[in-house]
Amino acid sequence: MPSTTEPQPILLSDYRPPDWLVDTVELDVRLHPSATRILARLSMRPNPAGRAGSPIVLDGDELVLKAVSLDGRALAGTAYVATPSALTILAPPQQPVLLEIETLLDPSANTKLMGLYRSSGTYCTQCEAEGFRRITYFPDRPDVLSVYTTRIEAERAEAPVLLGNGNLQESGEVEGTGRHYAVWHDPFPKPCYLFALVGGRLDRITEPFMTATGKEVELGIYVEPGKAGRAGYAMDALKRSMRWDEELFGCEYDLDVFNIVAVADFNMGAMENKGLNVFNDKYVLASPETATDADYANIEAIIAHEYFHNWTGNRITCRDWFQLCLKEGLTVFRDQEFSSDQRSRAVKRIADVRLLKSHQFAEDAGPLAHPVRPASYREINNFYTATVYEKGAEVVRMLKTLLGEENFRSGMDLYFERHDGTAATIEDFLTCFQDATGTDLSQFALWYAQAGTPRLEVAGHWDAAGATFTLDVAQTVPATPGQIDKQPMLIPLALGLVGEDGRDLPLQPAGGSNGAPGVVLVSEARQRFVFENVTERPRPSLNRGFSAPVKLVTDLSTQDLIFLARHDADPFNRFDAAQTLALGVLVDAARAGATPDAAPLVEALGAVLADPALDPAFIAQALSVPSEGDVAREIARDVDPDAIHAARLALRRAIGSALAEPLAGAFERFAVPGPYSPDAASAGRRALRNACLDLLATAGAGDGPARALGLFRAADNMTDRFVALSVLAHAVPAEREAALADFYAMFQGDPLVIDKWFALQAQIAEPGTLDRVRTLTAHPAFAMTNPNRVRSLIGSFAAANQTQFHRADGAGYDFVAQTVLTLDAINPQVAARLLAAFRSWRSLDAPRREAAEAALQRVSRTPGLSPDVADIAGRSLG
Ligand code: PHE
Ligand code: ZN
Repeated sequence: MPSTTEPQPILLSDYRPPDWLVDTVELDVRLHPSATRILARLSMRPNPAGRAGSPIVLDGDELVLKAVSLDGRALAGTAYVATPSALTILAPPQQPVLLEIETLLDPSANTKLMGLYRSSGTYCTQCEAEGFRRITYFPDRPDVLSVYTTRIEAERAEAPVLLGNGNLQESGEVEGTGRHYAVWHDPFPKPCYLFALVGGRLDRITEPFMTATGKEVELGIYVEPGKAGRAGYAMDALKRSMRWDEELFGCEYDLDVFNIVAVADFNMGAMENKGLNVFNDKYVLASPETATDADYANIEAIIAHEYFHNWTGNRITCRDWFQLCLKEGLTVFRDQEFSSDQRSRAVKRIADVRLLKSHQFAEDAGPLAHPVRPASYREINNFYTATVYEKGAEVVRMLKTLLGEENFRSGMDLYFERHDGTAATIEDFLTCFQDATGTDLSQFALWYAQAGTPRLEVAGHWDAAGATFTLDVAQTVPATPGQIDKQPMLIPLALGLVGEDGRDLPLQPAGGSNGAPGVVLVSEARQRFVFENVTERPRPSLNRGFSAPVKLVTDLSTQDLIFLARHDADPFNRFDAAQTLALGVLVDAARAGATPDAAPLVEALGAVLADPALDPAFIAQALSVPSEGDVAREIARDVDPDAIHAARLALRRAIGSALAEPLAGAFERFAVPGPYSPDAASAGRRALRNACLDLLATAGAGDGPARALGLFRAADNMTDRFVALSVLAHAVPAEREAALADFYAMFQGDPLVIDKWFALQAQIAEPGTLDRVRTLTAHPAFAMTNPNRVRSLIGSFAAANQTQFHRADGAGYDFVAQTVLTLDAINPQVAARLLAAFRSWRSLDAPRREAAEAALQRVSRTPGLSPDVADIAGRSLG
């Protein structure tokens, strides 16, 4: 129902414990395509910490109540109030009670993909954050922990596989009905957002796993029939994740089975339901012919992420949704560390920081900025953001930098010991590190409360006579919505002083160090750091490894940056020096509408290409200049995306021409022998070759176009084939249509590959793209009901095509706004995410700004909006 009055925001400061607790939940689920019946038996009792004498108030969402009874007796109509969104038992006895509730659902009509729905005929559930209330009435909040037993019954022909949380207790036939059932019991108390069930015709692969203490676990991955051959890499990643978590964090798995189910229709990446993870199949299925190296890396990371939630999220969960970063930031940090250990740490860090800057820094700089732990929200679905996830992970990483490896581990150990089986807060988390190490973390805690990317201005001064080097540091935290005045943050700044020969000089802070070795702690608005015994002019290498998520502004010259790009001992900063050079050149050129000066970059990249000691994957990262979005963020106001695109294209062409020979040489030299393997070393070689190919083809040099065509035709794997197709589509217009058609014909039966085909076309930086995207929405393979499809076609257009989404005539905005409105009636969560593509609208030049604002206004004024879209529209305009 569209509501006419604005719902009030939910405030962290209003938190109160629940009035009633639920100790056990017994669910009896009779699956049916359009009439699934749910019988819930809740053992409840008044919470001693709640308000005495309270009614029982349960959440619902679009529910149909069939029956309700208390302690075995049907309730009189006057004893309760039921609406689709709540069930209130008005005057329950203030003692333990058994509440039985029967609801009726239509899973086939559930296009929101929250609660119980069907994906390609498979029944599945999604309950985080507030989807359980779409299954039965329940106190749908993460601080109500219960032990669940679930009986699932279905037609055997329709759903031979029946899965639930925990361990399988019993299964069998329902005599003479063609139906069968399974009973699953999860002994670990959990919040309802971790509930899940699955029923369907699925193929599976299984493997045994022996935990560190010798417990046998059966691992299962379930996929659509015929796709089991593509689940092997996910299984391998799962086993490596389980071992890694034992070794690095002492976390062991705790049930007899661990199951993963891949579904084609899913709002997010994946979900950590206890013992039964449900995945977007994009993050499970891989074969060399259909998945790229990046897909393999994502599968590895997300399998690990969901698995790691078993301890950071499930065994210890969140008290309320404001604490979302407690599980997400920490678990992202853990999956990043896992991938770093499995692959190249430096390259992983570079990739993570690129993502952080493009998503989180952009979010932090616009109207949707919010703290890692928000203090209020209207729609929690809209807070599964880069800030909560990626910046949340950075905060944990800083904590580790601050405390050092061992102290960090002691704090984590204490956290697991103290809070296992409970719903915790950020304060609980930080207190463990304070208690374990005696460190005062009160200033550090500001990272959770203050939004905005801190800006660090650093100026260096070498005093030859005194042999000292002085760094003057000034920090500011920009104003963000609802937060005008900010306090200085505690910033762990890793650094080195690079000498003339390229090696680090000894780092000797005057008066001793205030941080770990190689780290100074910035804690004030202005601060001076003096280093002694600096006998030659050093070049400071600052924020090494991106030790803090800040915007760094230095007084380094172009020559200094070229030098650091050649010599810095810290690989991240070596990369970053080249990026900073490129960014400066691009900003100057875009502002002036001039041709960029490629010379410094050609020099720096030439040196990187010629360095035989470097990891190919690292060189590939260095060769990829900052994105158009990065440049736009740097320019910050009156942004003209066409000028940025032109500057970036010109720079890439200049690099491609000037370095044609070494690029073509590297393309040949790094050919990967033998059959495809997704390992990091092979993937790194492909990444480098393909970065070379891209620059060559863009420049029309070094036989680039012909090489791309050759690779497209001859590739034996999707990584090479898709890069070649992208290069042809973007840079070789004469080959574009034929190549796209060939690719479609080759892969039309493969939805995940066709997603790539849609996404690529949506990203072409040409005026015809909007019409192409419009036409593609009518393509038989496009469906508004499938989130992956919507994201690949519309999402790519809005978030990854700067020139065409931001067309000066506003047609890109109108198209996306209209699509958001259409989609809102089908899937509000996905619609709201799409609308967030407008988040940087205030930074654009006047015509675009006005057109974007008008489009947002049109969305905002549409009657009957979902809370999800209304919230994003309102905050974007606010
Ligand atoms: N909790 C999931 C994760 O980060 C994300 C998610 C949120 C999935 C909401 C579905 C719905 O692993
Ligand atoms: Zn997560």
